[in-house]
Amino acid sequence: MQVEGVSFPEAVERLAAEAGLEVPVSSPEERAQEQRRAGLLEVMEAACAYYEKTLRSPMGKTALAYLQGRGLSDETIRRFRLGFAPPGNSIKTAIMSDAMPEALLAEGGLIRTPDDGRPAYDFFRDRVLFPIADARGRIIAFGGRTMGDGEPKYLNSPDTPLFDKRRTLYGLAQARSAAHDKKRILVTEGYMDVIALSQNGIAEAVAPLGTALSESHLALLWKVADEPYLCFDGDNAGQRAQARSAERALPLLAPERSLRFITLPPGEDPDSLVSTQGSQAMEELIAKSTPLDSIIWKLETAGRDFDTPERLAGLEKRLEDRALSIADRKVQFQYQSLFRQKLRDMINAARNPNGGGQGGGWNGGGRNGGGNFNRGGGNFGRGGRRNARGGASWEDRRAGTSLGGGPEQTSRSGPDILKKRHEQVLLAVILNHPDLLDMFAEDLAMVNVSNPKLDNLRQEILKVYALTENLDSEGLKTQLLNQGNSVILQSVLASDVYVHAGFARQDAAEDAVRAGFLQVLASHLAPARRAELEDARRLYVNEPTDENWKRFEKLKMDGPGSPGSEAPS
Ligand code: UTP
Ligand code: MN
Repeated sequence: MQVEGVSFPEAVERLAAEAGLEVPVSSPEERAQEQRRAGLLEVMEAACAYYEKTLRSPMGKTALAYLQGRGLSDETIRRFRLGFAPPGNSIKTAIMSDAMPEALLAEGGLIRTPDDGRPAYDFFRDRVLFPIADARGRIIAFGGRTMGDGEPKYLNSPDTPLFDKRRTLYGLAQARSAAHDKKRILVTEGYMDVIALSQNGIAEAVAPLGTALSESHLALLWKVADEPYLCFDGDNAGQRAQARSAERALPLLAPERSLRFITLPPGEDPDSLVSTQGSQAMEELIAKSTPLDSIIWKLETAGRDFDTPERLAGLEKRLEDRALSIADRKVQFQYQSLFRQKLRDMINAARNPNGGGQGGGWNGGGRNGGGNFNRGGGNFGRGGRRNARGGASWEDRRAGTSLGGGPEQTSRSGPDILKKRHEQVLLAVILNHPDLLDMFAEDLAMVNVSNPKLDNLRQEILKVYALTENLDSEGLKTQLLNQGNSVILQSVLASDVYVHAGFARQDAAEDAVRAGFLQVLASHLAPARRAELEDARRLYVNEPTDENWKRFEKLKMDGPGSPGSEAPS
């Protein structure tokens, strides 16, 4: 595990392979699926080798010159196994065989078969290819860049049984051992950023594949380093993406587990930066990176005036909501007290406009990028005078109490049996059908559960989910049991919970599970989100198709503050 920076199961698998042993797979279905994946992996490997070879053939002359023209050395081209897909159709002739039939090529996304009976055609034509590997370095997909101005600039393989772009990070296999040595990992936007950084001695870099950073991405990153560095452009789109990543990470934070943020100079990406100024320029940005809490503070304060009690109260509330979205109690508590302190310092500084100022209290300590009312962050200008006039009593009272109550205060308990039953049902469905979390983990993180034991279970579930790939019900329950949750688990999975909620059972029909879950989830959410989910739920209940189900995914991706999470691909 230490040498390679891999997880325990992976280490077992690798050692077993070296010793010529098979790690037993548990069920026949799993074995069949494993075999299909093995066949697909062979196809992808053969395609990769063919595209590499083509890059070095006369056909690939222009492509090779293009890559060299972008500053890539032959060693880099080899290390990342870059290739070239010639114009027209060639992949079938190149790799098809009895062992690799057309259907397998189609399943791997290498060819497309039109619905109207016309013959299959190559998915990648006349593009430079960037093979995409899984964490173990096995090729599972490709990204292809046009060498001209054609659209799209980058074309990525469709999702296949091997490739789920929301769970894949480009460059992870190559980055892992450097990341492990240096105890850090960088997340950039694109293929060329990863490769250029690597060529310049920063091998610990990865990129998502044209999508926003997902929860699975974060889980992968946290397996490698405690505080991954996320690089974003200084432009509006980049800053929006930064805010979105910060929001997405909040529910999943844990002690020693956070993110840091790097903002690039206008017009630069990591590729252009290191190619023109060398790795030192990147190291300087890394040294100046901003912690997550400052990003959240800035998000709530930048460009606004807090010159009335109501506006301050609004800020206080928004900060409190942000802190409450953190599932981990200890981290949540730290965020609450930090925000409370910053708010108090802001008010104090406003009351004594000459006292706080540069380098004063809340923005000191060598931190960067926090909202700073003296330098264009949260703007406090006018408020200073008003609050000074208004006297000191109310803000002290407020700043001292409501945000501050510590972790216990966040859950109000009451003898409301119906409410508790609702909460039990919500958790029961998830325990029996944890795949719902793929779409709704963020919602679950926002849910207000009033019973403290149930709320604790909710948080434990989110933690297990964040740390486990492909979580199933048995796995989830086992982990929760091992963590000492047996009493609360038994009460949630007791038969009386199911009396009015048959859909929560493990063996309930899929559409019933989904519809029932949505209803109980919606009832726990804030009105805006509830309305959204209820609309989509009605559609789904009328017509329980996968397509309508996927609407929820879209709802999530396009949720408030995240316009269009998918870049064109
Ligand atoms: P950029 O447009 O920033 O390109 O896209 P880049 O990485 O700087 O590429 P070069 O330097 O022009 O070659 C960033 C990432 O977004 C995805 C790709 O993963 C790309 O690396 N993307 C971009 C797509 O998936 N499709 C596109 O059409 C464009
Ligand atoms: Mn670029």
